[in-house]
Amino acid sequence: MRKGKFITVEGCEGVGKSTQIALLKEMFAGSGDVLFLREPGGTAISERIRSVILDIQNKGMSAVCEVLLYSAARAQLVEEVIKPALAEGKTVFCDRFTDSTFAYQGCARGLGAEAVERLNEIACAGLEPDLTIFFDLDPVAAFLRKGGADGEDRLEQEGMDFHRRVYAGYKLAAERYARRIVCVPAGGDIADVHERVVKALKERGVI
Ligand SMILES: Nc1ncnc2c1ncn2[C@@H]1O[C@H](COP(=O)(O)OP(=O)(O)O)[C@@H](O)[C@H]1O
Ligand SMILES: [Mg+2]
Repeated sequence: MRKGKFITVEGCEGVGKSTQIALLKEMFAGSGDVLFLREPGGTAISERIRSVILDIQNKGMSAVCEVLLYSAARAQLVEEVIKPALAEGKTVFCDRFTDSTFAYQGCARGLGAEAVERLNEIACAGLEPDLTIFFDLDPVAAFLRKGGADGEDRLEQEGMDFHRRVYAGYKLAAERYARRIVCVPAGGDIADVHERVVKALKERGVI
């Protein structure tokens, strides 16, 4: 039985997800009924799958293998951690979830929206986020944030094409799941973005 709220945080690499989640953690510090997770991972099994996904030796991993590993890690996280926490009335925040699979594997890697939606359904077994915060920022600007001083030299053309496809995938998800996804502009100061997040959480009755 579901009682707690489930909020996912999405957006391209470097858009500020971890930064904003750290601020939310501070905001909720001391209230024991809020759980922060990040994908892939969050259970012993999911963490082992994570290390396979991220292992730089696995360069030859196919797109299908990748999406199935992400889905496997998610299935375990949903079953073992998220559903029980929500049943206890906890609020659960997750850094990346199904929309990452939609944008990265479905759109950027070209597996297609329908296949990924089906996999997401299987992995989530009826669970859907109550709210998804999509940090909306041009992927080049976001990538530069992460790249820091090294700047443009590190942006190989192919790399940026990929990030642009991811961004397009997120925009498509935002249209397709408009009821659940709130687009939060991620430009400007960290404090300003945080205020926008708090506003979205208030509007959706999370706080
Ligand atoms: N609003 C912001 N303005 C400028 N820099 C930011 C902002 N938010 C985050 N950053 C910086 O951008 C980089 C990437 O942020 P991060 O939170 O790690 O992104 P993500 O988790 O989405 O990949 C970090 O160095 C962070 O300090
Ligand atoms: Mg991060």
